[in-house]
Amino acid sequence: MIIAILNEKGGVGKTTLATNLARAFQKAGQKVLLVDSDPQGSLRDWLAAAGEGGDYPPMIAMDKPAMIKDIKSVSGQHDVVIVDGCPKSIGMIAATITVADVVLIPVQPSGFDLWAANSVVDLVKQRRELTEGRPKAAFIVSRQITNTRLAVESRQALLELGFPILNAYTSQRIAYAQSSSNGRTVLDTEPDGVAAREIRALAQEVEEFAHAGR
Ligand SMILES: Nc1ncnc2c1ncn2[C@@H]1O[C@H](COP(=O)(O)OP(=O)(O)OP(=O)(O)O)[C@@H](O)[C@H]1O
Ligand SMILES: [Mg+2]
Repeated sequence: MIIAILNEKGGVGKTTLATNLARAFQKAGQKVLLVDSDPQGSLRDWLAAAGEGGDYPPMIAMDKPAMIKDIKSVSGQHDVVIVDGCPKSIGMIAATITVADVVLIPVQPSGFDLWAANSVVDLVKQRRELTEGRPKAAFIVSRQITNTRLAVESRQALLELGFPILNAYTSQRIAYAQSSSNGRTVLDTEPDGVAAREIRALAQEVEEFAHAGR
């Protein structure tokens, strides 16, 4: 199962979701591989900050379209492969979509972010015309500021793009930023906190979404 976290826009939470979801799947007993498809190398920086001895999922860098197309050669022995998406490079995003089983599109609840999601949505739809409906795709609301009117309007605008929105989401919480700057996840730093609950709910819903109808 290859899950790619993609959005052309920078800073929407792709890497944060990749690390936290990877950790959640790993803690649930799955064999996880992280793939850094971003030449900025954020995942590599995150793992470097974790230092030696952390019980983290293995990670490889595949940050060129020709490399990511070979992902099946390394994904075989893992239950879940999570690809941290590259912002800004449509070529890299398109190549990642061709190998993904599931595309997760994090969007921040603001008008600018909703427009930015359009490019990934269009690429997934184009790919599906060639593949009888693969990959699956869903939005994840990222960095939600709860109970704002904007959040409600954003959800409606997103649904009009034609993909489901997962019920689980991440809210705007310092725990996410703090844990990742130390090379950790919210499941490590605050396992009983709200952010960890959000991530566990998200991991469970992603798992169900990925396997639905198989
Ligand atoms: N739910 C959240 N609450 C608070 N801060 C968050 C949250 N999610 C991400 N962040 C912070 O926002 C910043 C951008 O997040 P992240 O690096 O995950 O985004 P990205 O989409 O991978 O960015 P890029 O496109 O540059 O790779 C980081 O400083 C991260 O710690
Ligand atoms: Mg990133």
